[in-house]
Amino acid sequence: MSARKALDVLKTISVGGKDIVSAGYLGSISVEGDEAEVILLLPPSLQGQAEGIRTAVEKRLTEAGFKPHVVYRIRQSAPPLRVNVGPVGQTKRRIPGVKRLLAVASGKGGVGKSTVAVNLAVALARMGTRVGLFDADIYGPSVSVLMGLEGERVYVTKDKRFKPIEKFGIKVITFGVLVKEDTPILWRGAMLHKAYEELLMQTAWDDLDYLVVDLPPGTGDSHLSLAQGYQLDGAIVVTTPQAVAMADVLRAVKGFEKLEIPVLGIVENMAYFQCPENGKRYFLFGRGGADKLSKITGLPVLVRIPLDEYASNGADAGIPVAHAYPESPSGKAFIELAELIQRKVISTL
Ligand SMILES: Nc1ncnc2c1ncn2[C@@H]1O[C@H](COP(=O)(O)OP(=O)(O)OP(=O)(O)O)[C@@H](O)[C@H]1O
Ligand SMILES: [Mg+2]
Repeated sequence: MSARKALDVLKTISVGGKDIVSAGYLGSISVEGDEAEVILLLPPSLQGQAEGIRTAVEKRLTEAGFKPHVVYRIRQSAPPLRVNVGPVGQTKRRIPGVKRLLAVASGKGGVGKSTVAVNLAVALARMGTRVGLFDADIYGPSVSVLMGLEGERVYVTKDKRFKPIEKFGIKVITFGVLVKEDTPILWRGAMLHKAYEELLMQTAWDDLDYLVVDLPPGTGDSHLSLAQGYQLDGAIVVTTPQAVAMADVLRAVKGFEKLEIPVLGIVENMAYFQCPENGKRYFLFGRGGADKLSKITGLPVLVRIPLDEYASNGADAGIPVAHAYPESPSGKAFIELAELIQRKVISTL
């Protein structure tokens, strides 16, 4: 069984006179053995027919001998594309060697921003794109722990640029390997801005499709220097189902909007735990946080990432789940997120 064959099957299904592949309704397809996983991305105008289309796809794939898992998502209309202009009217800067700059943010601490940033970067790289990760959290850089970078060094090249660490298929710069663990970090204001500036602009990123930035919690200094000074192509906002996360996250969304940075959508992390024995979902942190946020902001919920031991053990071991366990519940969700981001960013640029 091949993805090609599944694709041919999908091409035989037409909606409104066009087959669903040429109409652009196929979000992603992956085939392993006889299992075919299909994500459909449908326009809002097809919302009423979505379930019918989903079952038609499932039926046709079954007839062709596949074991299909088909889900659909209603595509939100893309935010209008703007040329970002800085506070004094100049165009914001681009980082040398970086095509698209994405930020993962929250406003709320401990919701899994760094986990999302690391795994999104790794999952984008698995899809064949060139990806870098910049850990902008000076006070609590956790990327070095999540990626097992202890003992790694950032070297300076002959032309005085920083050479990022390469691991799990991505290029990484984090303050975690630049600042020794026992050094108190008392950088403030101007110094922080300068450190950022140098690291971002003077790293030999070397022709990246994406640079993912892991922003620290809150809406403080580093958010502003990044958001005001550089042309951010999109922000991804991470939240948990808990209502307590809402207000802070909403503030972060508003902050981006004020700075005219397109927010690509919401990621609901720790959305549920699915029991591997009986498949039952347990909503340990409540339900509905991301949906509520989506209703208020009009932003789409991109993906719901389950809580699982693969993500947490991977974090402790310094191995991202999207690298080591792409088939685990959280691994799959991160890969789905990367696929959505890739489509979204490409369609809005
Ligand atoms: N889906 C998940 N399943 C299991 N554990 C998770 C999941 N997401 C995050 N975690 C765990 O939760 C903890 C917090 O995650 P992380 O450090 O990514 O959060 P953060 O929002 O970046 O925190 P901070 O605000 O301190 O920067 C980590 O120990 C991480 O391993
Ligand atoms: Mg973090």
